[in-house]
Amino acid sequence: MSNPEIPQKLKLLAMAGSPRRGCNTDRLLNEAIAGAAGQGLLVKQVTLADLDISPCQHCDACIQLGGRCVIEDDMQQIHQDIREYDRFIIASPVFFMGLTAQAKAMIDRCQALWVLKNVLNLPVCLKTGPARKGIFISAGGTRYTNLFQGSVATVKSWYKTLDIEYSGELLLPGIDMCNAITEHPAFLKEAFLLGQQLAN
Ligand SMILES: Cc1cc2nc3c(=O)[nH]c(=O)nc-3n(C[C@H](O)[C@H](O)[C@H](O)COP(=O)(O)O)c2cc1C
Repeated sequence: MSNPEIPQKLKLLAMAGSPRRGCNTDRLLNEAIAGAAGQGLLVKQVTLADLDISPCQHCDACIQLGGRCVIEDDMQQIHQDIREYDRFIIASPVFFMGLTAQAKAMIDRCQALWVLKNVLNLPVCLKTGPARKGIFISAGGTRYTNLFQGSVATVKSWYKTLDIEYSGELLLPGIDMCNAITEHPAFLKEAFLLGQQLAN
C-alpha cells in the first residue's frame, strides 16, 4: 500500500512510433525522456515496432468484454499502462500525411478504452488526481502545407478519449535522412525542455 503522505513520482509512458531506430523522432524522444527523467519522472519507454500489435478489427467484442480487447497481444499491457500512467509522449514521423502504421495501430486499438468510457460509462484512468498530460513529437521530410494536420488531429482525439490533456508538441518539417536531426541541436534542446515541462 502506498503511503498517502509521500507524494508518488509521476510515471511517464514514452512511445516511439518510427520503425527506424535511432533516427530523427527516436532521438527527439530520447531527449524529451532525458528532460523528464531529470525532473524525477519514472519512465517506461516502448518501441511500437518491437511489439506485437494487431490492427483493430472493429469486432465490438470489447462491448461484451467490459472494455477489454479480445485480441491477446502486447496491446493488453499498453492498455493497462495507459490507464495507470500520468504523463505520455508519442513520437511518430509523418508517413503519407499521417502517423506511422505502428502508431496508428496502437491508437486504433484504444477503441476498447473508447468503449469503456463512452459506451460502458466506466473510467479510463485508474487513478484520481491532477490532470494527466501528453505531448506529441513529429518530423516530416518535406515542408508541405498542413504536414502535421492529420497526425495532430489523430493524437488530439486519442488523448481526449484517454482523458489526457494535449499539453505540448514539437513538429519539425524538412527533416528526412536518418541523421538529419543532428544538424539541428536547437530542436533536440527543445525536445529536452518539452520533456522537462512534463514534470509540471
Ligand atoms: C512510408 C513513408 C511515408 C512518408 N511520408 C511522408 C509524408 O507524407 N510527408 C513527409 O514530409 N515525409 C514523409 N516521409 C518521410 C519521413 O517523415 C521522414 O524521413 C522522417 O524524418 C522519418 O522520421 P524517423 O527518422 O524518426 O524515422 C515518409 C517516409 C516513409 C518511409
